[in-house]
Amino acid sequence: MPKHQKHTLEIHKVPDALPADEAARTAYAHDLNLSHHHFVEGEHPIVRIEHLNKTFDGETQVLRDVNLDVWPGEVVVVLGPSGSGKSTMLRCINLLETPTAGHILIEDKEITAHGTDVNKLRQNLGMVFQQFNLFPHLTAKENVMIGQTKVLKKPKAEAEKEALKQLEAVGLADRADFKPAQLSGGQQQRVAIARAVAMHPDVMLFDEPTSALDPELVRGVLDVMRDLAENSGMTMIVVTHEMGFAREVADRVVFMEGGVVVEQGKPEDVFDHPQNERTAAFIGNIK
Ligand SMILES: Nc1ncnc2c1ncn2[C@@H]1O[C@H](COP(=O)(O)OP(=O)(O)O)[C@@H](O)[C@H]1O
Ligand SMILES: [Mg+2]
Repeated sequence: MPKHQKHTLEIHKVPDALPADEAARTAYAHDLNLSHHHFVEGEHPIVRIEHLNKTFDGETQVLRDVNLDVWPGEVVVVLGPSGSGKSTMLRCINLLETPTAGHILIEDKEITAHGTDVNKLRQNLGMVFQQFNLFPHLTAKENVMIGQTKVLKKPKAEAEKEALKQLEAVGLADRADFKPAQLSGGQQQRVAIARAVAMHPDVMLFDEPTSALDPELVRGVLDVMRDLAENSGMTMIVVTHEMGFAREVADRVVFMEGGVVVEQGKPEDVFDHPQNERTAAFIGNIK
């Protein structure tokens, strides 16, 4: 290997991933008082991040030893200033970025190990971006169908039924035949959520889903996300600046800065009694 890489690799040397049962016990002991999640005896985290490091171009270290466990059905909101590594962490979870070091396990299966089927992984992880990324030439319904038919190989009629069901769930039953350009940004984002949910992923990742929206359209998207959190039992990791949503919907809030998880806890604890002064400064809560 070239000499200049060696130094970086040594910095990033991390222990092996913990065995599943030990990881579950450790995560339980760590998270029990930090989350409203209803812990079930013997349950394992659905997402496990151990010693995650990400360096761009061999020098810019963007994530430093991030450790985070997410439980089945838990809603985790990630807060933090711009550039703190929130998107990079989410993108590592579905391997849109390749971690430099560390482990990510989904349902105890190490996705950072060699030979992971990335397409299969991404079927299981729904992602909603700030930019909705809908196909402009397809209708709302067709946008929600296409992953189901092309990736899951579902028959068209079945995919259509599911698409209509999911569009109805996001309040867009009457917009099924509209193209993205005929929809507001908020409606487009709700189509994007319907599209992700229609694949029935185990985990949904949201990266600032309302940041590109006009203020009056934010509410509708947050309502759809809240409904998903409260009524579907979906595991959700949500990067957002919507403090109201975090406070009301999150089981746990994670504050990141400088590529580090600075603090995490139940929303009322983090918002009303932040332990770290940087968290307090960020949420405007210095007493
Ligand atoms: N592909 C990339 N190449 C180089 N630097 C990057 C890349 N993607 C992100 N970064 C840098 O990583 C840091 C964290 O970015 P990001 O994860 O997008 O933060 P956040 O989502 O919290 O705003 C930023 O300094 C950003 O410039
Ligand atoms: Mg980001």
